[in-house]
Amino acid sequence: MSALSELCQEIRTCQRCQILAKNRTKVVPGSGMEQADIMFIGEAPGWHEDQQGLPFVGPAGLFLDELISSINLSRDQVYITNVVKCRPPGNRDPLPLEIQACRSWLDRQIELIRPKMIVTLGRYSMAMYFPGKSIGKVHGTALKKDDVIYYAMYHPAAALHQQSLRQTIQADMIKIPSFLTQAENASESVNQPEQLSMF
Ligand code: URA
Repeated sequence: MSALSELCQEIRTCQRCQILAKNRTKVVPGSGMEQADIMFIGEAPGWHEDQQGLPFVGPAGLFLDELISSINLSRDQVYITNVVKCRPPGNRDPLPLEIQACRSWLDRQIELIRPKMIVTLGRYSMAMYFPGKSIGKVHGTALKKDDVIYYAMYHPAAALHQQSLRQTIQADMIKIPSFLTQAENASESVNQPEQLSMF
């Protein structure tokens, strides 16, 4: 068993949040390629994800699949996970204490996968890497820090509620390959976050 599979097994037994552990059907650690260059981080599992134990398998996931294929990849060639690994009851927002309790699982996944690019989907994962920023301003922009590119996008579910965001999300997605190439060619930046811009 790989270190990542072992970690996911450990996550499946998590009891850190009493309410989430009691109400969940399945824990949703994440899925995809262990050596993925790109890691997508959403918010928390919804009803479908809780039933199947897999991330983004409901309506928002269908749109995410479409977005991923727009950059000529499939979900097996990236890694997909969430800030919180268990479904909050009634799909409520995850609580700050739950996000904090789950944080080390995410950090350990990142350490093992070592993605070149972390794509935040929605406000909760954005807040981890773009603190104090608003999604309306920061979406479609990237930061490079310690050899990792952090790229913020709206949550795919936002397009389901607000049709006008669909094109924005599609446009942000297709910028990903050029950010990856640009960052691979750019000089190293140590500790100092570097704002990347499109050529
Ligand atoms: N929304 C998320 O943020 N994550 C999922 O896995 C599904 C829907």
